Amino acid sequence: MPRSKIAGIGMYVPENVVTNNDLLKYMDTSDEWIQERTGIKARRYADRTGETTTTMGIKAATIAIERAGITPQDIDFIIFATLSPDYYFPGCGVLVQRALKIKEIGALDVRNQCSGFVYAISVGDQFIKSGMYKNILVIGSEKHSFGLDFTTRGRNISVIFGDGAGAVVLQPTEKENQGILSTHLHSDGESAEMLAMYNPGTHANHWLPQKLADFNEVEAGDMFMSHAMIDNAQNFPFMDGPAVFKKAIVKFPEVVTEALAANNYKASDINMLIPHQANLRISQFVQQKLGLRDDQVYNNIQRYGNTTAASIPLALCEAWQEGKIQEGDLVCLAAFGSGYTWASALLKW
Ligand code: ACO
Repeated sequence: MPRSKIAGIGMYVPENVVTNNDLLKYMDTSDEWIQERTGIKARRYADRTGETTTTMGIKAATIAIERAGITPQDIDFIIFATLSPDYYFPGCGVLVQRALKIKEIGALDVRNQCSGFVYAISVGDQFIKSGMYKNILVIGSEKHSFGLDFTTRGRNISVIFGDGAGAVVLQPTEKENQGILSTHLHSDGESAEMLAMYNPGTHANHWLPQKLADFNEVEAGDMFMSHAMIDNAQNFPFMDGPAVFKKAIVKFPEVVTEALAANNYKASDINMLIPHQANLRISQFVQQKLGLRDDQVYNNIQRYGNTTAASIPLALCEAWQEGKIQEGDLVCLAAFGSGYTWASALLKW
């Protein structure tokens, strides 16, 4: 059975750099608070009308396709991971198919937030291993800046997130020392509402704990989206930061250890760990827990903030471009996020 390898990788970040001090125009925060709690110094925001989640994904994908030495016509499946799609439906995958003038292949959107890219890679890996497809385009992209609360009310979330995109092309490889060794996917929906965007949606407060339902008032007769939801700022993400932090620092090391154990490796064998860029404090905790040196972990959240489904391909691409990942290196991708869902992939570059 062939393994899947990353045959090409690309990234795109918008030009507009937004520093922590730039955010002071909108909310009561400080560079010191943001850096101390999250490690973030700046993030990028997409052009409000000129760029979308899909257009950024296409820019990253075009580079990945070129680096894989193929053309868009060779792609036989598209997987697009995002929580900030251009449309509520249809997904971004079909918009990529249309824009790149790819033939009428399958296009799948993955909605697994911060672990979306690792889930997407895992799905692609199964199609390659089964022999069904030979050139799978996997994209992670987010335009968060369009859906954040830029008032002091939303500051605990808004300062964290940024825009960007990353993409890879997966192809089969027969080489012994190359490709995705295994992927590991998990979920625990018990705390689904702790990191979520409730509206627009069909939930009618069905799942919300009383404390959150009191805030997220829903009137009988309300539709998918109501004027009241907008007036009451209920159309923004909600996050219980401390609850997410506590779970993340347990599940991140656990899922890395699981991937290593499945392939008879130890943490010291890792050449590069690419953690989802949730928060620098979380990455540092994971690094310490696994006993990894600084050169075994790549972080770029300082420059881009948390870009959710884009964060792993962005970090992987930068690490590779900087020569920090070489052929044959053992690379681990690991993610944790909303759902909660968490996942890892262990691969030989
Ligand atoms: N600027 C200034 N003050 C702020 C800001 C801000 N941007 N945001 C919150 N505060 C204030 C709060 O109002 C609160 O003030 P109070 O004590 O007077 O009430 C105080 O800071 C502490 O608030 P907490 O929410 O308890 O802040 P905490 O110390 O937990 O830090 C953070 C918040 C950074 C989000 C932290 O909880 C965390 O790292 N959580 C992990 C979640 C995470 O990283 N999520 C990323 C996305 S999810 C993912 O990718 C997995």
